[in-house]
Amino acid sequence: MAEQRPTDILQALLDGEDPESKAKMTATQVVAENIAIIVASTDIVAQTLTWTLSYLMLYPEAYRRATDEVRRAFPNHHKAISYAQAKAKLQFTEACVYETMRIRAATGVFLPRVVPKGGATFQGHFLPEGTELGVNVAGANHHQTTWTSPRRFMPERFIDNENLKQNIFSFSLGARVCPGKNLALIEILPTIANLLKNYDFTLPPSALFTPDKLDEHGNPTVMPRSHRFTSVGPTYPDRDCQIICQKRQGTDDTPRKQPSSQRSRHDVDLPPRANELRQRSLFGIRGFRSRY
Ligand code: HEM
Repeated sequence: MAEQRPTDILQALLDGEDPESKAKMTATQVVAENIAIIVASTDIVAQTLTWTLSYLMLYPEAYRRATDEVRRAFPNHHKAISYAQAKAKLQFTEACVYETMRIRAATGVFLPRVVPKGGATFQGHFLPEGTELGVNVAGANHHQTTWTSPRRFMPERFIDNENLKQNIFSFSLGARVCPGKNLALIEILPTIANLLKNYDFTLPPSALFTPDKLDEHGNPTVMPRSHRFTSVGPTYPDRDCQIICQKRQGTDDTPRKQPSSQRSRHDVDLPPRANELRQRSLFGIRGFRSRY
């Protein structure tokens, strides 16, 4: 008989046991794992999407190039762009996602580690066992030996340079590398591609951070960000994450009402004015305000 599979991740965590000791996880461990999954899988992806749009607004040339690429490859009437389609045709747009993950990794500052029994020697320095260490994600992503003009948003650095993507440290490396790395890319790239296909984005006149407001290095000033352990979001999202999002004419992503026989309990009707409102909405992109 086929093995019974758990109905969801929570059940899998409750049922799971150590292969040798057969011990199950404690309630605290199950809660901790669930928090890790929720934070890792939703918050960080939402932040990466937010920062990608934010950088595209600060670098209009990159925004134009990505938008042109998407709209040339997928005309107005094209239905939702899938990951496979985006991956095959949108090299520059994908490069924008990678460059965002490099320049503004949504993974906090340090990935904590404890030196194992017996200590370890790292680059000639002995580290006693039990020492708590942190790997600096932003430091690795901005290191001048690896990255030219590291403070500048330059998606083109990844074009025809697949190997460079391996140097992005945002998903970590080694035994604890993010297990959701591929899923994250599958979520982020088509979401950005479909947004660029179906909507025009601009900054509102009241925006505080604009392409012409330069910092001491001559790059557009980026909105202030919080420094949390896990996820790094803007400090003032309600104030700084304002983008005008205008639905393009002729795009066809309006959900159609299905015959009731085909509707599932998850299908909902949009309010009658939703499309109209969507066309002139001025919204703050949310999703990154961690409350834990
Ligand atoms: C842009 C998106 C993402 C980034 C930048 C990211 C990055 C990271 C990083 C840096 C770690 C810590 C690794 C370490 O300690 O060395 C991590 C762990 C983790 N990530 Fe992601 N992640 C992303 C999306 C996702 C998604 C979509 C999922 C699942 C659906 C996921 C699931 C996890 C889990 C479960 C862990 C804990 C792994 C462990 O305890 O060993 N992540 N992630």
